[in-house]
Amino acid sequence: MSVTGSPLDRVDGIPKVTGRARYTADHTLAGLVHAVMVTSTIARGEIVAIDAAACERMPGVRLVLTPFNAPHLPKGGKAAADVPTAGHIMSLLQDTTVHYNNQPIAVVVADTLEQARDAARCLPVQYRPADAVLDFAQGRARARKPDDAGDSHRGDADGGLRGAAAVIDAVYTTPMENHNPMEPHATLAAWDGDQLTLYDATQYVTGVRKAVAAAFGMAPDKVRVICPYVGGGFGCKGSVWSHVVLAAMAARQAGRPVRLVVERTQMFGPVGARPLTEQHLVAAAAQDGTLRALRHDVITCTSTVEEWLESAALITRRLYACPNVQTRHRLVELNIGTPTFMRAPGEATGSFALECALDELAERLGLDPLALRLRNHADTDPEKQLPFSSKSLRECYRDAAERFGWAQRDPAPRSMRADGKLVGLGMSTATYPTYRSAASAMVRLLADGTALVRSGSQDLGTGTYTVMTQVAADALGLPPARVRFELGDTAFPGAPVSGGSQSVASVAPAVQQAAAAARLRLIRLAVADTASPLSGAPLEDVEIVDGWLQRRSDPAQREPMSAPIHRAGGRAVEARASTKPGKERQTYSMHAFGAVFAEVRVDPELGEIRVHRVVASYGAGRLLNRKTAHSQLMGGIVWGIGMALHEKTELDLATGRVANANLAEYHIPVNADVGAIEVTVVDEDDPHINALGTKGIGEIGIVGVAAAIANAVYHATGRRVRDLPITLDKLLD
Ligand code: MOS
Repeated sequence: MSVTGSPLDRVDGIPKVTGRARYTADHTLAGLVHAVMVTSTIARGEIVAIDAAACERMPGVRLVLTPFNAPHLPKGGKAAADVPTAGHIMSLLQDTTVHYNNQPIAVVVADTLEQARDAARCLPVQYRPADAVLDFAQGRARARKPDDAGDSHRGDADGGLRGAAAVIDAVYTTPMENHNPMEPHATLAAWDGDQLTLYDATQYVTGVRKAVAAAFGMAPDKVRVICPYVGGGFGCKGSVWSHVVLAAMAARQAGRPVRLVVERTQMFGPVGARPLTEQHLVAAAAQDGTLRALRHDVITCTSTVEEWLESAALITRRLYACPNVQTRHRLVELNIGTPTFMRAPGEATGSFALECALDELAERLGLDPLALRLRNHADTDPEKQLPFSSKSLRECYRDAAERFGWAQRDPAPRSMRADGKLVGLGMSTATYPTYRSAASAMVRLLADGTALVRSGSQDLGTGTYTVMTQVAADALGLPPARVRFELGDTAFPGAPVSGGSQSVASVAPAVQQAAAAARLRLIRLAVADTASPLSGAPLEDVEIVDGWLQRRSDPAQREPMSAPIHRAGGRAVEARASTKPGKERQTYSMHAFGAVFAEVRVDPELGEIRVHRVVASYGAGRLLNRKTAHSQLMGGIVWGIGMALHEKTELDLATGRVANANLAEYHIPVNADVGAIEVTVVDEDDPHINALGTKGIGEIGIVGVAAAIANAVYHATGRRVRDLPITLDKLLD
């Protein structure tokens, strides 16, 4: 009766479609007032004055917080920066310096949202502007080495280049991109004496607790963070940004609970972005396609206040069995908001350069692009020199190529047509590391025959509720309908950030172990109970099947799970477990892999590109729920289409403002842009990775998609576009 692995419908589906699921901004509290953040309109300089008085006289306004009246935080608010993964230097009104356009500089609190917004729009701010560094093209001359990403060398890249039959030497660029989950960032803050409760849209309730406590110099246990539902995360909600602390500050100063919702335009700056990259890729191979050398030099950007690195070259160190590899990252500091993790940070951007370069290399050598990948398949991790815990990449290539019909591809560009359009077929490899962190869970078997399971994890909308319910149900011997899984609360046992595709790999083992412990406790209770039909049975002869405690040797000897709990006075049977990764990480390299094939149709006169279909296959360990897994991989592929053809943050170099800071002009794929997507996940048995054999699937879906589409566009048109997004103007000149 294993429900783990079955395509169970989302347990949070009905609450979501009926509106019963409450996202952060849906919560309300007695006496709640509304905060609106005011952001800077210059990219660099000093705030000379803010005329708060004019604003304070407006209807309903209770408070205007500015750098001139904001309470002083310990260490100027920088204490929060010590918190891991939540370490962004925030803008907490502790000084008057402006580092980027759209930086938080004030907070207006009023009785209604409309009053707060109105007053925030009217707040007169006087600046002394200074020259900002905004132009990456100019700044790149001063690019510096990052603090904590070393250059890498394996073998002798220059030596490998000499005597190669073909060398591709090209520059690939990807633009700045901004996260825009349907649910923007939002925080509700309420103080009760020195206790702070935060409802926050976050990928990491524990991280919010730590960072906010640090900012105020409080003990972490004085802060409770609640987040039962997240309307999309994608990395931007993995960190704690200024508005979270500002909401708490405003609530304290106003003496009322405060709701602060980040406006859509404020999603472009103060809450992270994927930084632009300029990637110089050199790929050299022998005549038979054997890679001789790879060089990957990445220049990307960060803010002037804090280093954050998009490590796009990492993928080149480890994807192929190339003996001579050299990689490098360099950073340009710009007056922009600090960038951050965005789905498959590093791999999404790095795979575009690497996988396009391999496509170019294959053509130069007259080889099939898939054959080139197969020739350079890494049987062991070429960088760590370790065996893979499991790797099904060959099977992914075979499976996806066959379903796609790759064999029918005529390799000559512009050679295939359908319905008056140029047809292009392209492919790419996908990969993403398998991370895992320490996690805890609690299982309580209740007298009504149900189980309550808790872990302070998060569900970004991707299925944590559902798969943890499945894991607990199987481990307990209960149908999933009798398991209630709760998450998103720092009052629950701790769990890691829901980032790096690690939630399932981290939290499921803890849930499984806590459930096994609770189950054993219940069995002990039953066999020790003379009133039980299981009285005196050996522990190993008792199992739980569909909510019944029964003897393996004689299943007729049974009673409902709730019976011994009732006889013992009705007190729930409870157990906790904490799990963490072990030594297996030193002996195995752990990654998910995949193969992505794309077909585009390009209008020969207009240059319009349509993604006709994407066929992809992944080896990602064991799937706990095929339905939610497929949805998540499809979502990643859709985002990959956006990365290939649509997405770009347009930074105005004169002002440092994002010119398309809205969802009308910041383009993402809509249904009409998405052709048929066919995803399969090959069966993969990984006994080393964790107790459940699962790898993450959150990020890998986007990896390689932009390259597969770019390669397909080249095949269709004979035009190699190396800078994303591939808009039709790049095909027409
Ligand atoms: Mo993901 S970009 O690690 O939240």
